[in-house]
Amino acid sequence: MIFTGPDESPIAVDRYPDWRSRFGERADRLELEIGCGHGGFALAHARRWPDRALVGIEQRRAFAVDLAARAEARGLGNLLVLQGDARRLAPRLFPAGALAAIHVHFPDPWWKRRHLPRRLVDGGMATLLAGLLRPGGLLDLRTDVERYAVDAAARLEAAGLRNEAGPGGFAPAAPDELPSTRERRYLETGQPVWRLRLRRP
Ligand SMILES: C[S@@+](CC[C@H](N)C(=O)[O-])C[C@H]1O[C@@H](n2cnc3c(N)ncnc32)[C@H](O)[C@@H]1O
Repeated sequence: MIFTGPDESPIAVDRYPDWRSRFGERADRLELEIGCGHGGFALAHARRWPDRALVGIEQRRAFAVDLAARAEARGLGNLLVLQGDARRLAPRLFPAGALAAIHVHFPDPWWKRRHLPRRLVDGGMATLLAGLLRPGGLLDLRTDVERYAVDAAARLEAAGLRNEAGPGGFAPAAPDELPSTRERRYLETGQPVWRLRLRRP
């Protein structure tokens, strides 16, 4: 695990981590999950795709520590959990074009107008995420908040990503989709989920 300081100050990194020495050939298919929460997706994804590497960034220390321990207990060497703010960490961890996929599932909605700047997918973050994807790389965003999905689609498309469902469109649930912890609950209750799948051209 890498920890930021208690004040969330960024870690000092003067060069990008050597992902190949950490993950071996799996680094050829490097993916990022932002806000893993209790880690249902990260654990299932790492188990299903042993030939891929997944880096999970989770802001809440207790969640990150618990998920890292569960990954280690399950022998998932292809999953690395980091604690910190992905907005600060991601540009320090990955060079442009490094990622085959980025997963963002049920980002906090921050409803109040004065809290809107806290939203994960703002204009700056959309540009950052688009730039971190390699050509053909996938941005997989899921949310239970329709307005968030509409807003994120517009921002990500403006950042240059191509929406698989057409401009402003939402993707259907894939039959083999791995649900996140929160999504599992929604699948049981039938609560709607808006899915965005966009690719870097
Ligand atoms: C609503 S929860 C969803 C958790 C999980 N993705 C799921 O679907 O079950 C949002 C998670 O994102 C984390 N988070 C919010 N902002 C973050 C940031 N800037 N960097 C990393 N994690 C963040 C929160 O701590 C929380 O665990």
